[in-house]
Amino acid sequence: MAPIMTFWSALGGVALLLLWLGRRLSSRRRFAGLPRVGIDPGFLGLQMQAAKDEFFHHGQQLLEHGYAKYKDTPYVTQTCDNERLVIPDRFIEELKNLPDTQISFKEELLERFMGKYTKLDAVRGTTIHRDIVRFQLTKSLGNLLPQMKEEAQLALDNALGGCNSKEFTPIKASSMVFAAIGQITSRRVIDDPQVSRDPVWLKTIMGFTTSLATFCITMRTISSTLRPIARFTIPSGRKLRSDIAQVTMFLAPLIRKRQQQQQQQNLNSAAGDQTQKEDGPPQDFVQWLAEAAQAQGGGRDTEPEAIVIKILFLIVAAMHSSAVTAIHAVYDLCAHPETMRDLREEARAVLGAHGWTHSALLRLHRMDSFLKEGGRANSAGIVSFQRLVLSPIRLSNGFVIPAGTHICAASDARSRDPALYEAPLEFRPLRFYHPLLREAADGGGEVDAANLFSSVANGDSWFGVGRQACPGRWYASAQIKLVLCLLLTEYEFKFPDGQTARPKNWVKDEKTGPDMEQMIWVRRLRG
Ligand code: HEM
Repeated sequence: MAPIMTFWSALGGVALLLLWLGRRLSSRRRFAGLPRVGIDPGFLGLQMQAAKDEFFHHGQQLLEHGYAKYKDTPYVTQTCDNERLVIPDRFIEELKNLPDTQISFKEELLERFMGKYTKLDAVRGTTIHRDIVRFQLTKSLGNLLPQMKEEAQLALDNALGGCNSKEFTPIKASSMVFAAIGQITSRRVIDDPQVSRDPVWLKTIMGFTTSLATFCITMRTISSTLRPIARFTIPSGRKLRSDIAQVTMFLAPLIRKRQQQQQQQNLNSAAGDQTQKEDGPPQDFVQWLAEAAQAQGGGRDTEPEAIVIKILFLIVAAMHSSAVTAIHAVYDLCAHPETMRDLREEARAVLGAHGWTHSALLRLHRMDSFLKEGGRANSAGIVSFQRLVLSPIRLSNGFVIPAGTHICAASDARSRDPALYEAPLEFRPLRFYHPLLREAADGGGEVDAANLFSSVANGDSWFGVGRQACPGRWYASAQIKLVLCLLLTEYEFKFPDGQTARPKNWVKDEKTGPDMEQMIWVRRLRG
C-alpha cells in the first residue's frame, strides 16, 4: 500500500509543479519584449519577495522613472499584489471608454480585495449599487442638502463641543473630519436617525474600510492554498465577520419591515385603496437598492443580506475617500492662510446670496479649483485606472493586451509632469480657476465642467478615469464643500504655533494618504 501512496503523491506533486510552471511560462510570455521597471521576479519567481519589497518601499520612485522613460510603450512592474502593465497616457485615451465587459474596474477590485473571502463578490454580475449612486443619489442632491447640513452640523458640534471663541482648542483634524463625513454618509445609508446616529452603528461603519484593508493585507501574506482556512482563524477575519454581522443586525430587520410595508401597500392598491403615504419613500441607499433590485425582477438581490453587502461596498467606496479628501483640504487651508481667508469670503458671499443650497455649492468656483489642486498635489494613490482586462485588446501600436492582464496608469508621476502643469511642485490654489469663464457660468452661460472638482476631464485622476470613473463624485464634492463651508464660516483653525507647512503624506505600496495624527487648533468665530 505504502509504495502506491508514495507513487500517487509524487505524481500529484509533479502535476502541481507542471501546472505552476505552465502558469509562470504563460505569464512570462504575456509580456515578452516589453520593458520592465523594478526588480524582475524571474521565471521561477526566486526574486519575487525582493521585487515586492522594492515596490512597497520605492514604488513611487519606480513609477516616476517609468513615466519619464516610457512615454509611448506600456511597461511591466511587479507590485505587492500582482504583475501590472503600466499604460502611458497616450493609450489611456484608447482604453478609458471601453465597456466593463472588456476592461473592468470592479473585477480588478474584487480580486485585490478578495471578493470571495470578504463577501464583496455580491456586487458581481450587477450594477445596481453603481446605478443608484449615479442616478438616484446625484439627482436628489438638491433635496438632500438640508439633511446633509443637519448631520454635518451635529457631528461638528459634537466633535468641537469644547471649543469657544476666546481661545484655541487642540483637536485631531482627522477625527473631526471623519465624524462629519461619517455622519452625513450614515444618514444616506439609512434615513432613520435612530440607527444612523447610533454610536455602535457609526463606529462599525466608520471602521469597516480599515477592517477590510487589514484582512486583505494579512491574507496577501498567506499562501493562496491556505487562505480558505486562514480566513476563519486570523483575528482580522474574525473582526471582519463581526462587523458584517453587526451591520446586518442593524439593517436586516428594517429592510424586512420596509419590504412588508411595500407588499401591504401593493395589496391595498390592488384592492382599490388609493391612499398615498404622506411623505414619499425614504431617500437612502437601502431603499434605492431594494427598489432597483425589485425593478430588475426581484431574486437574490432583494434579499436583506445581499442589500447589506452592497451597502458595505458603498460604504468602502464613499466614506474613507471623502474623509481623506477633506482632511487634505483642512491641511492645505492651514498651510495657506491667505487661501483660507479667500475661501471664507467666497463661502460667505455665495451662501449669503443663494442660501445653503446645492446650487450655491456649485458656485464655489475658487473652492472647486482649490480642491482640484489638492487632488493633484496629494495623489489618492501612486496609480489609477486599475482595471482587469477581460478580453484581448489591440492598442494602436499593434500590441495586444491579453485577457487576464492587470493594468494601471502612473497617475501620481503624471501629476508632477511640468509639461502638463506649470511649476508642478507648487501648490497653486487657483490653478484651475478662470474668472471669465466663471462669470459666464454664473450668468447662466455654459458651465465649464473641466474645472469643477468633480470633473474627470483632462486626465485628472482623483475620481478615476473614463466610463468607469467614480459615480459618487458629485455627491462627494457637495459633502466635502459643505463640511469646509461649515468650518470656514463658523470656526478659525490653524496648525499649532510654530508649524507652517502641512505634514508630509505617507506612501506605502501603491497607497498614499495624509498624516492622521496631525493636531489643529480650533476657535469659534464670534457672532
Ligand atoms: C472624494 C471622495 C471619493 C473619491 C476620491 C472617489 C474615488 C473613486 C475612484 C478613483 C474610483 C475608481 C474609478 C476609476 O478607476 O476610474 C471610484 C469608484 C467608485 N466610487 Fe468613488 N470616490 C469618492 C467618493 C464616492 C462616494 C461618496 C460614493 C458613493 C456615494 C462613491 C461610489 C463609488 C462607486 C460605487 C465606485 C465603483 C464603480 C464601479 O463599480 O464601477 N465614491 N471612486
